[in-house]
Amino acid sequence: MIQRHSKGAIFMHWFNAVCWITLLLSGFGLINNNELQPVGMWYVDFWHALLAPQNILVLHVTLGVVWVAVYAVYILARFNREAMPFLREISTFNPRSDMVWLFRKVLHLTVGEKIMRQKGMATDLPPQGFYNAGQKMFAVPAVLCSLGLIATGGIMLLSRSWLDGSAVVQWSIALHFLCAALVALGLPIHIYMATIAPGEGPAFRSMFTGSVPKEFAKHHNTLWYDKVVK
Ligand code: HEM
Repeated sequence: MIQRHSKGAIFMHWFNAVCWITLLLSGFGLINNNELQPVGMWYVDFWHALLAPQNILVLHVTLGVVWVAVYAVYILARFNREAMPFLREISTFNPRSDMVWLFRKVLHLTVGEKIMRQKGMATDLPPQGFYNAGQKMFAVPAVLCSLGLIATGGIMLLSRSWLDGSAVVQWSIALHFLCAALVALGLPIHIYMATIAPGEGPAFRSMFTGSVPKEFAKHHNTLWYDKVVK
């Protein structure tokens, strides 16, 4: 077995997942406007049956503040050991091989390797580093949108005492919604790839155990495996 995630990184991933999903669900419950509510007013009614409107906001803001505070402590404590290496991994792109990987992976999952071979197409995937091209394509917007949500959420929180009704607040509301919606669109793909997509079981289990079998790392993350072995 090869060590892939530390205990701290595993805790932060699941803490992040619970916070993100609860913030998304409660945040969409705060859109009490027929024209802006993406799933329909039944969703707002559902939340109002659970909590008074002001308490949905209290839940949303409190959880958002706890999420930011816990992340700030983690990043300060593990800046060199985990935060920076993670940011370096997700932002290391190789445009040509990443595009080929993405294109062929989508075909693997849709038409299948057998039909690709019958059509005379190459089926092998270019070697990947710690994260594959698809994971990087989700991770970068997730990090950037998280920063956008923190900045715009902070402005909205401050707007209760000052800035009220200003253009800055109006823009913050729109950008807050946009950042949340972007990640909400990518999340089902992330969860599908982690839990249901064939061949990804060992990576999913590593988000609990911390390690992956050598053969899996060699096949899925060849460039990372080579570095670890060296
Ligand atoms: C039930 C929900 C979720 C499941 C089952 C899940 C599963 C996983 C797994 C298995 C990995 C590790 C992949 C590997 O080691 O190669 C991972 C990584 C990651 N997860 Fe999640 N995750 C969930 C929710 C979330 C949420 C809500 C976010 C943030 C909005 C998130 C962000 C990330 C990021 C940034 C990574 C690292 C890069 C990547 O693999 O895309 N995850 N997730």
